Parts: sequence; structure tokens; C-alpha cells
Amino acid sequence: MQKFNFINVLKQSIKPTRFVVMFNKIRGRFLPYEGTLSREQNLEWIKRNLTEVSVFAKTISSTLWEEAITQSKIIEQKANKTLETIMYPLGGGADYPLLYFLTRYLSPKTVLETGVAAGFSSYAILSAIQKNGKGTLYSSDFPYFRIKDPEKYIGIVVENHLRKNWNLFIEGDENNLPKILKTVKNIDIFSYDSDKTYSGRSKTFKKVSEFLNENSVIIIDDIQDNSFFYDYIKENNISNWKVFKFKNKYLGIIGKLVNPKN
Ligand SMILES: C[S@@+](CC[C@H](N)C(=O)[O-])C[C@H]1O[C@@H](n2cnc3c(N)ncnc32)[C@H](O)[C@@H]1O
Repeated sequence: MQKFNFINVLKQSIKPTRFVVMFNKIRGRFLPYEGTLSREQNLEWIKRNLTEVSVFAKTISSTLWEEAITQSKIIEQKANKTLETIMYPLGGGADYPLLYFLTRYLSPKTVLETGVAAGFSSYAILSAIQKNGKGTLYSSDFPYFRIKDPEKYIGIVVENHLRKNWNLFIEGDENNLPKILKTVKNIDIFSYDSDKTYSGRSKTFKKVSEFLNENSVIIIDDIQDNSFFYDYIKENNISNWKVFKFKNKYLGIIGKLVNPKN
């Protein structure tokens, strides 16, 4: 973990739109725990309901899952080579094999993701979009305000030839989502991996929900942090959901997984 750098924080906070996002992020650290389940109950519920991602994916298409695993190895190798050249740890990736798989299988027109960091998830989604020959990825992120020139590290692992299908916004979900949602009609895949607080998740889902339809697929990362995922599926009477483990964390997905070709 890099040392707290007062000057870097100051440089970011004098930009008015960024100040608001930074303030919300800091405030979020002090908010009381929210959710109908305690952290322990939530984790117990996740563990009781876990599905092995490869078993799930192979029931849909074992060929595509194999492709996803092969492509993920390439992504890891190339991304790690890039990351070796920089001095900051940029945070771990989402379940990029699953994101690649879902993007290939659903062949979406519009994908929205929040939370880019070094860009493992963006890299996987954009690789799948390129292979599909259609689709656009809209990504929302916010620079790590403790490091110098943080903007240049956002999505650093994404190869240049993939960027033509990418619209990257870096002023925080609070500022980025209204802009993105002005330009899209429907969101086919929504991957949420930014602000992990309950209130952050609630606010974003309120904004995005009217752009989701019955065939949209939602992926929420780090669902062990609070019971937002559990509460969301209960409140909305959702029956098509799964929870998976990826590395040392958990994610939830919602959706019927309707392939447009079927
Ligand atoms: C776990 S990382 C994302 C990892 C990424 N999906 C991947 O697969 O490599 C979380 C990212 O969300 C960003 N973030 C946190 N709060 C945010 C907010 N309010 N708006 C936009 N991005 C935010 C962080 O700066 C960080 O880049």
C-alpha cells in the first residue's frame, strides 16, 4: 500500500466534481452498517447458496467456457506484464473469465460497468466484444486519489486495439452515470464493481434500473461486504440469480441469460 500523499489528495480535491466524490467515499467509511442481514449472516447465506462457476457456465456452453478460460490466461499474462512496469498496486480484478463468457454468450449491444481500476474486467469485456464483432462498453471509474497522476493508470492493462468500442468516464459514478445514461437506451449487461457501500449500491441501482430490461444480466462484485445483493433479490422478487466465488471474494449474478440467437 502506497504512503498517504497529502499533495496528491489536495490536487484531486481542488477539482469541484471530484471533491464531491472524494467526500462521499470518505464519508462512506464512517457510515453505520446497513442491510437486513448482518455481515456474518450474509456470508453464511452466500456460502449456503454457492454455485461453482465452471459447472454453471458449462451447462450453458462448455465450448464458450473453454474459450473464456483460454482468453483469460492471455489477459492475465499481458496485464501482469504491464502491471510489473508500474509502482502501485491497483486492486484486484473482477471475475473476468465470467465477464468474458457472458459477453460472448449474450452478444450484447450495450455493456455498462462501474469500477475499472487497472482494467481486468474492461479488458475481458472488450476482448469478447471484439470477437463478437458488435457492442459498446461504457465504463465508470474514479482515480485513486492518493497516488500521483492517477488518471493514467485507469484501464492501463487494456490494449489499444480494443479501445475503439470503449467509452471510459473517470469523474466518479455520481458524475459519470447521468452522462452515460443520457446516451444509452437499454443496458444488456451491467457489472457493478465500484462503490461497495450499501448506500452507494442503492443509489446506483436506482439510477440504472430503468435502463435494465427482463433480459438484462447484472453482476455485482464483493457481495460479502453487506447484504445489498440479498436484499435486492428479495425486494424485487427475483428468482433467476446465482452466487459464485472468485479468488477470495464472492459475486452475485441476476438474469435469465437469454441468448438472442436462441
Ligand atoms: C475493485 S476496483 C475495480 C476492479 C475492476 N473491475 C477490474 O476487474 O480490474 C474498484 C474501482 O472502483 C472505483 N470506485 C470506487 N468508488 C467509485 C465511485 N464512487 N465512482 C466510480 N468509481 C469508483 C475505484 O477507484 C476502483 O478503481
